[in-house]
Amino acid sequence: MRRCYFQIPLLTVLTATTFPIWQGTPRVASANQSESGPTFYRDVLPILQQHCQNCHRPGGIAPLLLITYQQARIEAHAIATITGNHRMPPWFADPSVGSFANDPSLTLHELMTLLTWDMAKAPAGDPKDAPPLRVWTNGWNIPRPDAIVKMTKPVAIPAEGDIEYTYEIVHTNFTEAKWVQTSEIRPSSRESVHHAVVYVRPPGSKWLDHAPVGVPFTAADMTDDKSKRDALWTDADILLVYAPGSSPDRWPDGMGKLVPAGSDLVFQMHYTAPGHATSDQAEIGLVFAKQPPKQRVLTLQLTNDHFVIPPGADDFRVEARGTLPNDATLLSFFPHMHLRGKRFEYNMVAKDGAIEPLLRVNWDFRWQLSYQLAKPMHLAAGTELQAVAWFDNSSANPHNPDPSVAVRWGDQTYDEMMVGFFDVAVRPPSCLQRAANILGA
Ligand code: HEC
Repeated sequence: MRRCYFQIPLLTVLTATTFPIWQGTPRVASANQSESGPTFYRDVLPILQQHCQNCHRPGGIAPLLLITYQQARIEAHAIATITGNHRMPPWFADPSVGSFANDPSLTLHELMTLLTWDMAKAPAGDPKDAPPLRVWTNGWNIPRPDAIVKMTKPVAIPAEGDIEYTYEIVHTNFTEAKWVQTSEIRPSSRESVHHAVVYVRPPGSKWLDHAPVGVPFTAADMTDDKSKRDALWTDADILLVYAPGSSPDRWPDGMGKLVPAGSDLVFQMHYTAPGHATSDQAEIGLVFAKQPPKQRVLTLQLTNDHFVIPPGADDFRVEARGTLPNDATLLSFFPHMHLRGKRFEYNMVAKDGAIEPLLRVNWDFRWQLSYQLAKPMHLAAGTELQAVAWFDNSSANPHNPDPSVAVRWGDQTYDEMMVGFFDVAVRPPSCLQRAANILGA
């Protein structure tokens, strides 16, 4: 059985030691040099605003604030080192494959600026040179939402133990169809969210039709077999997929996700116990397209759920393929694996079997990112897509919870997943629109 799903790796290209200029001839910072060299206000702050503050700010996901000179000065060396190693900003795509609109990587010039600034003992410079303060609107990373859909009841999260996938169904009360151009989910307890998928349930859908609305539940709470199955699998249309560090969806002009009138949004939350009891009440901000778009965006997946990773295997390959039934414009990728993930690739397979790589990710479990193509790609009906994942179940994998067991598909992080989500835009009418989001299933 084959299904459609996808994923990529992280390459280290540049470290401070690859700059010969810094070896052997340490500069002595004279008064003149520190005036002509980079200063915080003129040169460093714009980089922090553009590449770091979306996470390193109050209410952001990072532990450290990088807004003021005082905050950045004491971290100057850490900033130069961590950016030189390509550990920050987080980005895991092999730079030799594809180019991505949301690639936050610093340019060589920006890396050099941070390094030189640190070496010159982090001078402040003149506050008058500073760019305008970057304003973050009340926690949203998107423009002011036209609608906010919030979980009706908070979900209680225990301090310890496994937590089953938790669902909450929320009525939108939309009286007309809405086209979503931009969306963002904000959990209230970010630290507890491993990942989240939000589905659109149109009126008349039989999916989870016996489940309660407005209260959290899990498969174990369901009393009949259909509901239990419904809490494990669906082909419902996906509004958004979230994991810490992922950026909000912003569809190009003329494209949007459809939420039919009277739909419900179904939150599927994967929480992990944070070590202390807490609760989460996530909300979704939606910005609607000004005009009905010409193309509808659908999130599809290349999935393989029937693998067995042998104990100790250090480079175990799992593949999924699928064929597009319609012309489509390929927009973005979101690979998903767990702790034993190692690499993930998305490829196009030509009729003669030749492979054209679309994305290669060096997997880091802590960062589940989306990769948005800089140039959306037209794919003709009949195009075959392939996702390939590699898993490391050996003791050399520092995240491996148990190298001595065979590992199969499952919800929990000590189980594995192989899912290559990807987004396409299609023109109506299209058979893809009938919400079969699993290619080749
Ligand atoms: C997508 C969110 C995100 C972005 C963008 C980001 N960071 Fe981070 N950063 C984090 C998180 C989360 C951590 C803590 C967890 C970790 O270290 O992986 C972190 C850790 C760090 C640390 C280490 C703190 C420590 O524990 O000692 C430094 C230094 C840092 N970031 C600097 C930067 C700089 C400089 C930029 C921009 C060039 C940047 N980060 C961009 C999320 C981000």
